Amino acid sequence: MSPTLKYTISLLRKYLKPYIGQVILLGFLLVLYNGIQIANPQVIRFYIDAVFAETLDSKAILFASLMYIGFSLIHRSVYVVIRYLSQKLAWATTNDLRVDLTNHCMNLDMTFHNQYKTGEMIERIDGDASSLSEFFSTFSIYFFGSLILLIGVLTAVFIEKWVYGVLFLGFAFLALIAFYFVRNVSSPLWKKARESTTALFGHIEESVSGLEDIKGNGADEFLMKRFHEVSQTDFKNKNKAMIVSRTYYAINVAMRAILNIGILVVSYYLSSFLETDAGVIYLLLTYGTNLLWPLRLLLWQIEQLQNSLANVERINEFFQIETKIIDDGEIIFPEGKVSLAFDNLDFGYSENLVLKDISFNLEPGRTIGLVGQTGSGKTTLARLVFRLYDPKSGKIRVNGINTKNFPLKELRSNVAYVTQDVELFKASIRDNVTFFDKEIPEEIILDIFKDIGLEKWYNNLPNGLETIIKSEECGLSAGEEQLLALTRAFLKDPKIVILDEASSRLDPATERQIEIALEKLLHGRSAIIIAHRLTTLYKVDDVLILSNGEMMEYGSREDLAKNPKSQFSQLLQKGMEEVLQ
Ligand SMILES: Nc1ncnc2c1ncn2[C@@H]1O[C@H](COP(=O)(O)OP(=O)(O)O)[C@@H](O)[C@H]1O
Ligand SMILES: [Mg+2]
Repeated sequence: MSPTLKYTISLLRKYLKPYIGQVILLGFLLVLYNGIQIANPQVIRFYIDAVFAETLDSKAILFASLMYIGFSLIHRSVYVVIRYLSQKLAWATTNDLRVDLTNHCMNLDMTFHNQYKTGEMIERIDGDASSLSEFFSTFSIYFFGSLILLIGVLTAVFIEKWVYGVLFLGFAFLALIAFYFVRNVSSPLWKKARESTTALFGHIEESVSGLEDIKGNGADEFLMKRFHEVSQTDFKNKNKAMIVSRTYYAINVAMRAILNIGILVVSYYLSSFLETDAGVIYLLLTYGTNLLWPLRLLLWQIEQLQNSLANVERINEFFQIETKIIDDGEIIFPEGKVSLAFDNLDFGYSENLVLKDISFNLEPGRTIGLVGQTGSGKTTLARLVFRLYDPKSGKIRVNGINTKNFPLKELRSNVAYVTQDVELFKASIRDNVTFFDKEIPEEIILDIFKDIGLEKWYNNLPNGLETIIKSEECGLSAGEEQLLALTRAFLKDPKIVILDEASSRLDPATERQIEIALEKLLHGRSAIIIAHRLTTLYKVDDVLILSNGEMMEYGSREDLAKNPKSQFSQLLQKGMEEVLQ
């Protein structure tokens, strides 16, 4: 067995296990459904025989009629239940799969997330699971249903008369070969048609999103020409595939005709030997119909299975990706104020080092101001503190303990990272600041709003904390967004605060308003403040100047300010732009 098929079975087993009762019920109903499908022609045959009998037995006729109606009703009802059950099962199992895929994705490190675009990720998690669910829900019905029906019909015909059995069996082989042949021709054609359709949509998307450039460069004509070419190819491909597929139906009809003629000819010439009567002929003609479509469905399902195996392979690949951030620490995060130290730390996103030999020691409750030109590695340094990435070499210690020794969740819940990019959800204000944690009481949030000067703003909201952000109800200024981000940080009650140019989008007046809030947030906490303005640096205890990922200068602000030769003094005198070249 191929490894992918094996993996498919293990997936099925894993995700169907919790629903084993429903699976058994579904299997039972499938047998029942197809059993009735096979039995019903027998009832009609009985009816026909009763009608043509020499002595009219009205009781038998009535009995057959009622039985037919009863069977048909049950048949339809069972079908409804089967559809319902198989859909439900497919959704339940693939939703479990979606949950696992999402969890896996969330636990992967940033190296992975930087690599995959959002659309790709959604396609991986939802797209693959959706097409599997489609397959799961129809495969059981069509594949097993067809198989049961096929075997059932052949058995019933053999029981009737072995001659007909041989006729049906031979015909089934013939039909299988014919269908298989056409499928083989049409499948690649359809694949090609799908590819050209994708190319067409890709072209349209590119053209629309690049409209400004296209218009600006007067390239309309070329693009339209290209569009015509692409859509012409698509049309041709689809046309070809369609024509071949139609042959398929033609063959289907022809096969039906051949079988019907076969049945009639055999019955006619061998009627005395076979004791054929009207009932039998009806029976055979009906079974003839029931022979062809399961054959077609079987082939179709085998092809579907092949397509789904590709999905399964991608799912397998996805589960195989492992996070580089190992979360196996067990030490409880320390209480109270904490120190934060970097020891000879090297780091790079790829081979090139972005941070080189970084060492500093931030005493509990102190703040360190981090300065350096754009691209010098300030944000990278911040990301390492809460283990968005791990260093290539060297250590980060909190109270002397390597941060790898804390459970990741503990570490991250004790570090607040505030940047200038505030990511807000289209959700209520409460959900935005609490990250959907319903446990946090309203009073605490309102207290923070008061502390950071959001009270007036809050009082004007139409629905209080339940007001939906980013809607008509409530738009936000950059300053308000920033204050909400700070509220998030306050709610965490972190031991370490990192502000990454957090107020750089704000105007000076708003910045001053936030300053008071910031002082409150930093009080009694250790903090890294990535500064973009000189004024910020007047409040820090220590200063670290980065240049191209290396430490240019490090010391207490007071000492550095006293020393007229220090970079920091130069910075204070000449301004940031002058010194940080
Ligand atoms: N996710 C990333 N993947 C690869 N390289 C990155 C990534 N983020 C930043 N870099 C690179 O690392 C260097 C430092 O960037 P960054 O830490 O953002 O600097 P700063 O915050 O000081 O402006 C830059 O050369 C930048 O291009
Ligand atoms: Mg940065």
